[in-house]
Order: sequence, then C-alpha cells, then structure tokens
Amino acid sequence: MSAPSMTLFHNPASPFVRKVMVLLHETGQLNRVALQHSQLSPVSPDAALNRDNPLGKIPALRLADGTVLHDSRVILDYLDQQHVGNPLIPREGHARWRRLTLASMADGIMDASVMIRYELALRPPEKHWNEWLDAQRDKIRRALTLLEKDAIAELTSHFDIAAISVACALGYLDLRHPDLEWRDANPQLAGWYFEVSQRPSMLATIPKV
Ligand code: BEZ
Repeated sequence: MSAPSMTLFHNPASPFVRKVMVLLHETGQLNRVALQHSQLSPVSPDAALNRDNPLGKIPALRLADGTVLHDSRVILDYLDQQHVGNPLIPREGHARWRRLTLASMADGIMDASVMIRYELALRPPEKHWNEWLDAQRDKIRRALTLLEKDAIAELTSHFDIAAISVACALGYLDLRHPDLEWRDANPQLAGWYFEVSQRPSMLATIPKV
C-alpha cells in the first residue's frame, strides 16, 4: 500500500470533517489521506492549521503539491472527482442543484448546531444570548421539518452528498444537542437515519469526544 499523499486537518467531533471521512470511506479513498488532529475552538486556534488555512477552520485538505483546499464542500467536490465509482455529487443537471441544495440545508443545520455548542460550552452562563440561541434552534427545526416533509424519498434513493450531509448533521445533533429531541417531530427522518447509521462509513466515523 502506498503512503498517503494528502493530509486532512481533522477532529472527530466535527460534523464537517465527518462528511469528508464518510465520503472517503464510501469511495474507497481512505488510504490516500493522513489525518492531522486539530484541537481548536474559536478562542483557542491551532497554529499549524492557521498556517495552511488562515481562517483556522476544519476540515482543510493539504494535497501532495502543497495546495490546501477548504471548506468541506470544496474538499468533497475535489475528492469526488478522484475516484472511478459513481459520483456522489451529480456532475450536471437538475439533480446536481437539488442534491447540493439539500447538502447546503444540512450544512446550515451543522452551522447552527456548532454555534449553539460554542455559545453554551465556551461562554459563561450569564453571558448566554438566549434569543440568539432560540433563533438558531428554530433554524434547525425549520430545516428538519422541510427534510421530513419533502426529502425522505430523495434521501433514501442514494447515499450521496445530500444523504451524507444530512446524516452527519443528525449525528452531530445526537452528539451535542440530544435535548432537541429531533426524532419526536421527524419520525420519517429518524427511520431513515436509523438505516443509514448502520453503513460501515457511518459506523467507522461515529464522533468520539
Ligand atoms: C465539537 O466538539 O462539538 C466540535 C469540534 C470541532 C469542530 C466542531 C465542533
């Protein structure tokens, strides 16, 4: 087996990193990437990461020639063009825009979830901005409602960019925000997630904290 030619700045709790890891599993590219652990928060940056990505965000992917790709959408797009199997991001047509929009919805759930996590975990309770926290939770609820109402058949049809992204968003809700009890209002999504959670790519990337 040849040595990995790329380096992924990685943290097992990040849902954005998990998307990349799931795609690497699903497309048989795991052995092409070495993982560099990145322990960071908005107030404790990772100096090595900052040298490669001045935004200090993970995931970032350093290629063999030193080029650094970010964010997760760019990395997924790149990696999806590096394997010979069926693309996990449709290359063209309506399917491309629809699947990318569903993926963007999932990314929005992750964004809101990670921001809530930072507010609650890093700021003292007396400084919590409760209206803002509620607005972030509302965003998550609205996006889940749309997925429950409109997207179950599409999510079930392929485990692609859209499904990977939604699965990683739901996994992060379970990790950091079980209090939201997202399954109660979204039983179809819960059933779909139960199924896809059994995939080897999802089992191998269960967040460890
Ligand atoms: C977390 O611990 O929840 C986390 C870690 C890295 C990136 C995003 C979230």
